[in-house]
Amino acid sequence: MVKFVETKTLKEKVDVSTIGFGTHFTDYMFEMTYDEGQGWHDAQIVPYEEIKVSPANATLHYGQAIFEGMKAFRQGKDVVIFRTKDHLNRLNNSARILDIPPIDVDLVYDALHQLITIEKDWVPNKKGQSLYIRPFIFADDPFLGVSVSKRYKFYIILSPVAAYYAHGFAPVKIMVEDTYVRATKGGLGEAKTPANYAASLHAGLEAHKNGYDQVLWLDGVHRKYIGEVGSMNILFKIDGKIVTPALDGTILNGITRRTVLAVAKEWGMEVEERPITIDELVEDYENGKLEEVFGSGTAAVISPVGVLGYKDKVMTINDGKIGPFAQKMFNYITGLQSGEEKDIHGFIDKV
Ligand code: COI
Repeated sequence: MVKFVETKTLKEKVDVSTIGFGTHFTDYMFEMTYDEGQGWHDAQIVPYEEIKVSPANATLHYGQAIFEGMKAFRQGKDVVIFRTKDHLNRLNNSARILDIPPIDVDLVYDALHQLITIEKDWVPNKKGQSLYIRPFIFADDPFLGVSVSKRYKFYIILSPVAAYYAHGFAPVKIMVEDTYVRATKGGLGEAKTPANYAASLHAGLEAHKNGYDQVLWLDGVHRKYIGEVGSMNILFKIDGKIVTPALDGTILNGITRRTVLAVAKEWGMEVEERPITIDELVEDYENGKLEEVFGSGTAAVISPVGVLGYKDKVMTINDGKIGPFAQKMFNYITGLQSGEEKDIHGFIDKV
């Protein structure tokens, strides 16, 4: 049990159907501090409030920070989290890449259960809604020299959410980005770190101006290999097979991606993780083999792609409609989360 500091006033619960994603936060958060020589210490659950940092805070200047995203769901009277330990282990992989001291997964797992138990009334009970869990760690040295910090803060905050995309489970328009670059081999691409999202903002803005929801990144060297979207991994159904870029260090090792690939194999489908070029995709589109395109992610769940734009080419996928595979996978994953599907994989973690 971690220390619990009670709040004086509880907030009013919100109607999740009207708030979209990531705008409201619960009454409490988890907090823990790291100091060199002392390790992680002072784990506690405290009232959700603004946090104070020095204007010289190392993260504000140099971005040594990482985060995770997972979700809790209501199953009748129970609350469950999807693949908790996989997410916490991935946080430690990001920590390794950013030279941040790893967390004790078991300690944080228990603390998260304690936090969710306290906040269980915030977990929405409608399908498509959840309590989004955002753990994050940032360097806290008040120091302007560029170096690995000696002090860190770790928080977990909770936000009741509906669908990530405002239009819900509906096809999105994605632009293949051929000007800007998100990540290159040997860089930070695999880590869930703010720098990767900062690198995506300008391109995202330009895509919006052109009527697209998000961009699909190409590799930074050849500008031809497909990467990821930034808020989600990308998968294709080509000639009956599920094909997705291999994990090469430049894209996130998505937990929903992992889920989709494992389940697709169980459904008897052929699955390929390999380099995919944009030219191959265009060719497959032109000869009718590109059957479906969809993204996967914690926030995005399964997000069908209806339009894929590349240079002056606009490719309409599956007539701009949700593909049958994306629909079946969406139903299956959301069914696991709501408890309608039997959890035969041990993905569901009861709080
Ligand atoms: C998630 O899917 O949890 C993410 O962290 C993506 C973020 C852009 C919302």
